[in-house]
Amino acid sequence: MIHTRLTERLGLEMPIMLAPMALAGGGELAAACATAGAFGLVGGGYGDLDWTWREWDIAAQRLANTAAAQHIGCGFITWKLDQDASALDWVLDQPMLPKAVFLSFGDPRPYAERIRAAGARLICQVQFMAQVPQAVEAGAEIIVAQGGAAGGHGAAAASARSTMVFVPEAADWLAANAPDVLLLGAGGIADGRGLSALLMLGADGALLGSRLWATREGLAPLAAKELAARTDGDGTARSPIFDILRRKDWPAEYDFRALRNALHREWEGREAELRADPGAARAAFEAAAAAGDFTGANVTVGEATSLIHDVPGAGEVLRRIADEAEFRLGGARTLLKP
Ligand SMILES: Cc1cc2nc3c(=O)[nH]c(=O)nc-3n(C[C@H](O)[C@H](O)[C@H](O)COP(=O)(O)O)c2cc1C
Repeated sequence: MIHTRLTERLGLEMPIMLAPMALAGGGELAAACATAGAFGLVGGGYGDLDWTWREWDIAAQRLANTAAAQHIGCGFITWKLDQDASALDWVLDQPMLPKAVFLSFGDPRPYAERIRAAGARLICQVQFMAQVPQAVEAGAEIIVAQGGAAGGHGAAAASARSTMVFVPEAADWLAANAPDVLLLGAGGIADGRGLSALLMLGADGALLGSRLWATREGLAPLAAKELAARTDGDGTARSPIFDILRRKDWPAEYDFRALRNALHREWEGREAELRADPGAARAAFEAAAAAGDFTGANVTVGEATSLIHDVPGAGEVLRRIADEAEFRLGGARTLLKP
């Protein structure tokens, strides 16, 4: 077993956390990850109360009277909470309390006190070094450094950080300024090589989105997951195109990585034009989404799609990754000449 500060502090069997994934990571997936010994986060995403209610209840049913109920939390998009925080307030009032609340994409400080007061840990995902002190000031116990390979939203392409450099830079800053705060890396981690590399870079564990999205328990359509499993890492792109098409009003510092499909290619380099007159493109997008046609509808997966070749259960994925990381870390000694 791999022991890190994360496994010790949260009582996990592996240093892995499921990323909260809006609409794609519900109660089944979070419960499956918690049951397998990782930490599961329900993707509260845009703060839709009905969705959060339904999915949190599924997790609560699956985990009732089990030790894994200690390893479950909920994630929200912070700038959406600024408009409506009712789903956060609802989940903090549930009999199965989230053991952690994960905030990303905005200032976490206005929400920190009510999260702590309810008895949950605060986890903050950051995309830039400048956000690290803000997360520490908010009282985050865990900070997630998200690199630009990540699926879904992240720092806009022009300023996105590489996981490989961002993680050790954040680790150095935390070691000097907030040594009790744990660090996870995210963005492009889908196997034991990625997990063991992150631990070498100074992280206490990994946050996984795309790899766990492509599991039986993930809520995305099976055809989307199978398409991702056939696509290599050149086949994704970061841009605001799908946000414009989906009428999502994201702040300019963030954009979105998904499969680079035909509709996306049609608008690349023409984002201003699309913003100015989105009507016909939105109609094409909505028709494709209704028909399950992924030449138009978004398949939200990151560069790690290159390392995804199947759609098994989440527990199997997690065991594979933990076993491979353990093997790699054990084998690292063979790189040293006696
Ligand atoms: C389908 C999907 C939905 C996501 N939704 C959210 C979200 O609602 N909130 C959030 O903080 N991050 C979200 N993310 C980003 C994850 O938190 C995480 O940073 C990312 O998945 C890590 O990179 P990876 O996809 O390469 O594992 C999402 C990612 C994916 C793939």
